[in-house]
Amino acid sequence: MARFLVTGGAGYVGSHVVLALKERGDDVVVIDDLRQGHRAAIPEGVELVVADLADRARVADVLAGWKFDGVLHFAALSLVGESMREPLRYITENLSNTLGLADAAIKAGCQRFVLSSTAALFGFPERLPIDEGCRLGPVSAYGESKLMAERGLEWAERVHGLRSASLRYFNAAGADPQGRLGEDHNPETHLIPLAINAALGLGPELTLFGTDYDTPDGTCIRDYVHVTDLADAHLRVLGVLEQGRSVRYNVGNGSGYSVREVIDTVQRVTGRPVPYRTGPRRLGDPAVLVASNTLLREETGWTPQYAALEDIVRTAYAWRAAHPHGFDDSARPVAA
Ligand code: UFG
Repeated sequence: MARFLVTGGAGYVGSHVVLALKERGDDVVVIDDLRQGHRAAIPEGVELVVADLADRARVADVLAGWKFDGVLHFAALSLVGESMREPLRYITENLSNTLGLADAAIKAGCQRFVLSSTAALFGFPERLPIDEGCRLGPVSAYGESKLMAERGLEWAERVHGLRSASLRYFNAAGADPQGRLGEDHNPETHLIPLAINAALGLGPELTLFGTDYDTPDGTCIRDYVHVTDLADAHLRVLGVLEQGRSVRYNVGNGSGYSVREVIDTVQRVTGRPVPYRTGPRRLGDPAVLVASNTLLREETGWTPQYAALEDIVRTAYAWRAAHPHGFDDSARPVAA
């Protein structure tokens, strides 16, 4: 059994990883300020420290108080649009929290660090599918903040020997297939939950951002990866870090679906129409983002179990239908 510190463990991807760690028998401590996260997303038996990562003394205390085998860092500002209105806040907060946490981990003798990174590092990609060797060129302050965080971690390895894994998520989507957890952002900006909410009458009609892209149906193509598969990737990279080297992986299914295909799938799965209207392009949206997951597969043995868009939408829909108002109507802790 190992013990891990998970920042942002009450959030969407973080909570699914916490659940996966608990299920395999690890001990988990979560730090989350609950600005975005939900107390009800923390499984029983997991210690929750409600704290802001900017509170360095508190973070250092937590790291010194337990002996952790690794830190998984999810807590971050993560809205691309917001990052273009407040670029300096995004870069300052995401970078300083990551490096402050890494520093505290090093001082506490913890040598494994996993960073939630993003496909936004690649901006408008130079080739498809996007492999780890593609040129890095973020076109948002959010992407830039994660690129800087990755670079900071490279220095932490060079000088202090901190081994890190940067996982560049493509479009995280879906929900725990057993229905224990789901996606509950406020505000919600992601396509799949917005389309489901529109279909269920829980949210406004969807606006489809752009129909004139150079793609077969004119709408953007994205690589949707199931959050449970994403969680499994984290467990596997912890094993790679044990072998003593730092890694960077693109984490996606390796296949893309257009916005129209997502809408069609939501209609099929829910059995209801998705009310939508077409609107102009959203600034900074590349036409196609699809990952090459070859390196991740080869080096970790990762294989997505919920690769079909239908499975992703079905699990997301099941959770939302059971929790129309998100975690607020289920203030019970989930059982691991
Ligand atoms: N979309 C709409 N209408 C909406 C919301 C989204 O048409 O109301 C479209 C977008 O234009 C895009 C696709 O649906 O083509 C997916 O959009 P999301 O907002 O769900 O996801 P993004 O691809 O924009 O963002 C994701 C992650 C970010 C990450 C980015 C990398 O959520 O954290 O990929 O490019 F930075």
